[in-house]
This record gives sequence, C-alpha cells and structure tokens, in this order.
Amino acid sequence: MSPAAGSDIQAILALAPAIPVLVIDDLDDAVPLAKALCAGGLRVLEVTFRTPAAQEAIVAMREAVPEAVVGAGTILDQRGIDAATSAGSAFLVSPGAGPKLLDAFVACGTPFLPGIATPSEAMTLLERGITHMKFFPAEPAGGVSMLRSIGGPLPDLRFCPTGGVSESNAPDYLALPNVVCVGGSWMAPTKLVRAKRWDEIERLARAAAALRS
Ligand code: 3PG
Repeated sequence: MSPAAGSDIQAILALAPAIPVLVIDDLDDAVPLAKALCAGGLRVLEVTFRTPAAQEAIVAMREAVPEAVVGAGTILDQRGIDAATSAGSAFLVSPGAGPKLLDAFVACGTPFLPGIATPSEAMTLLERGITHMKFFPAEPAGGVSMLRSIGGPLPDLRFCPTGGVSESNAPDYLALPNVVCVGGSWMAPTKLVRAKRWDEIERLARAAAALRS
C-alpha cells in the first residue's frame, strides 16, 4: 500500500502498536531496513529528516516495499514539508508545533502528527480540531503519569508517545486509553543499522509488533 492515499492520521496510527523512528545515514540501508521492519510486522515507518539521505530513502522504501507506510519525521517548517511531500511521504511528524507550521500542515493535505509536551500545547491543537498528537519527549516530559493526568480533563485526545520509550516501558504506555501507539528508535538502533544487522532488527520489530496482539 503506498502511501496510504486518502487515509488520515488516525487510520495510519492504528496500523501497528509501534512506529520505528529511523535515522538513515546511508541510502543503501533504506530498503533492507524497511524490509526487515515490515517482515517483523511493523509497517508504519518514520524516516527523520535529520540526514541528507532522508528524502531519497523515503522514495526508495516506497518503491521497493509497497506494504510499508512511510512517513517523514523531524518536520520543522515549510521546506521540510515540501521535501517530505515531494518524496511521497504518507504522513508528517514534528517534535512541536507553532502556528506557522500548523497552518502549513493543514494546507499541505498530508496526514500529520504534531508534537506537544504540555496540556496548554495540546489545547492549542484541540482548538484547531486536532485530536491526534505526538507526546514528545515522552519520558522527560512526564511519561505515563503525565499522559494519564492529561486524560482526565482532555479525554478526547489521542497520543503517540515518543522519546525515551523502549521495549520495557512501551506496554505501560499502550495500556493507557489515550495512547494509540508508541514511537521510538529502539527497534532500529543506529548501531544495528550501521552494522546491517537486518536479522536482529527484524527480531526487535517482531517483539514490538507483539506489544499489543
Ligand atoms: C526522536 O525524535 O529521536 C524520537 O523521539 C526517538 O526517541 P528515542 O531515541 O528516545 O526513541
């Protein structure tokens, strides 16, 4: 399925309990990495725009691994949106969200997941009708207890916590009613990607995919 045409962010986030957050240095790693993650059961992939290879990596993954739903992370401005959408990104993720970026997200028409770390930031998004957001950086910003507390006064919001989430604490996040999935780098750590340990990455993906089975 490429790139989740017509689907919204809610449908994309429902496809897997965990989204691998990927930093791709070597373009040659993009396709084997996407294949390993999909083979392990994780179809939704976030390629961060932190390396020069990101844009081409998204194109390569989409073409070679059609079952993958490949989105772009670390989108900070209009330039990032343009680069990500021209690569065919299925969704866009940002670590935070100012009014200018939110306007640009809405205008671009691609599903987006803006980041928040406080109730006030969440309410600013809610004022625009945005209910699905990334909670970042999840662990430093209060973790599971913060999200549980936000769920009291703001029960309609749904989160993808990312930042310090791991195989060991992910179940605690996924047990919350306001968490739809989690994100993180633990499924494809840079060390394993550089070593081209696709077997090990597939194993980590399989474990993450089973977090909510
Ligand atoms: C990021 O943007 O780097 C993600 O939040 C990943 O964080 P993690 O490495 O703590 O999983």
